Amino acid sequence: MVEAVLIDLFSLPANLQNNIRGLLHNILETIEKCSSIPAPLVYVICCQRQGTERNGEQEFLLPALRDFQSLKKRLEVVHALTTAAALYTIKQRLDEKDLSIVKVILPTLRKDLMKVYIDHLFTAVYQFEFEDLQVATDCKNLQIAEPWSEEQRLPTQDVALIRSEIQTYLESLPSLNGELTILRSSLIPGDIFLHGFTTRTGGISYIPNLSSCNLFSSSKRRDPQVVVKENLRRLADAAGFDPETFHRVKIDHANAVCIMGKTEPDSYDGIVTNQKGITIAAPGADCIPVLFADPVRKACGAAHSGWKGTLLGVSMATVNAMVSEYGCNVKDILVVLGPSVGPCCYKLPHESAKEFHRIDPKCVRLFDSANPYVDIRRATRILLESGGILPENIQDDSITDQNQNITFCTACHPDKFYSHFRDGTNFGTQIGFISIKD
Ligand SMILES: *[C@@H]1O[C@H](CO)[C@@H](O)[C@H](O)[C@H]1NC(C)=O
Ligand SMILES: *[C@@H]1O[C@H](CO)[C@@H](O)[C@H](O)[C@H]1NC(C)=O
Repeated sequence: MVEAVLIDLFSLPANLQNNIRGLLHNILETIEKCSSIPAPLVYVICCQRQGTERNGEQEFLLPALRDFQSLKKRLEVVHALTTAAALYTIKQRLDEKDLSIVKVILPTLRKDLMKVYIDHLFTAVYQFEFEDLQVATDCKNLQIAEPWSEEQRLPTQDVALIRSEIQTYLESLPSLNGELTILRSSLIPGDIFLHGFTTRTGGISYIPNLSSCNLFSSSKRRDPQVVVKENLRRLADAAGFDPETFHRVKIDHANAVCIMGKTEPDSYDGIVTNQKGITIAAPGADCIPVLFADPVRKACGAAHSGWKGTLLGVSMATVNAMVSEYGCNVKDILVVLGPSVGPCCYKLPHESAKEFHRIDPKCVRLFDSANPYVDIRRATRILLESGGILPENIQDDSITDQNQNITFCTACHPDKFYSHFRDGTNFGTQIGFISIKD
């Protein structure tokens, strides 16, 4: 069932500008009378011409709303300089109320354009249906179809122009919840590598559990790719890497490794490179983002290690790829475990905990319970050490200098980190990233 109606008056031709009240009146009457929808919210988007007062225009529209007492409380007129800005505002309204099924009433000529905007700004969580403004107003014999098609030229904007309008708008938005903060390890030499682990502040994602520097877009959640891309641009800006040469693992919760420059597997949780200026990254929202650096051979790697990947040895698989591809000596490889769910919080069903117990009984606490606490960091260290990585070349939560300790528990710090375990299905994602400096 439709939860919101969006009336697109954005491209209202000049000769109808003065007539907007009458036009809106008729459309609203149509919605009230013809609609099978019980009580949807109604949003009207209009073009705010440069130099015009927002409030002035809104007041100008009020008389049109006077006759619609029932609609008044659930109708909002959104003025914006661009369609991108108008739609983003509508998206915020929908998200505040957790709505997702929208009927868009718009001039036929705007339909193709609008679909492109919607594809970029929304995800598969939302459902849109479209209705011609002409059809909607036919109920009242309002002849607006003709001036529209005569006055307005066919849209010449193509997808690239729409993308750039959206991008420009997102770039103009203020960062939310403070500064973008990057955690860095003192183990990885800064003269050779650029690296860091992100926290959740300083991006533009506004939905509470994704706010604000979400770096992963899923069709199941409300942050579209364009927003994640903008967050990444801000991160790249702050960290000093090129977002165009950024490569993130394609999560599979297994142990495949992608060698940059060679055929890319369909999915992989480890990635390695020896090419300068290429930034590689692994996400995590409890799972450990693990970074690898060999200052001797000048090669690096990143891995995503959740409980499954940890058991499958994704970290050693990444080390092995560095050894076989770039001739690294295991003893030169430095490994840093990023923010991840700690042994204080993380529980697994007994069956899965058993496998950690097998690696080392110290990886499990309250082993006899139905859901024992599991230490995926310790398991990662043990597997790395048995693969030949020197104990002092691994940085994790055992680091004693608290100023250097960056292996925070994601579940314990809701202000700093995303946590799938804590937040449920609507979780955001932080990343660990590394590159070799030019
Ligand atoms: C480092 O920080 C983590 C997370 O706050 C904490 O669990 C751990 O005990 C700290 N390490 C040491 C050695 O204090
Ligand atoms: C957001 O996270 C909290 C816990 O941090 C959780 O209780 C809540 O259900 C989440 N909200 C949504 C919409 O997923």
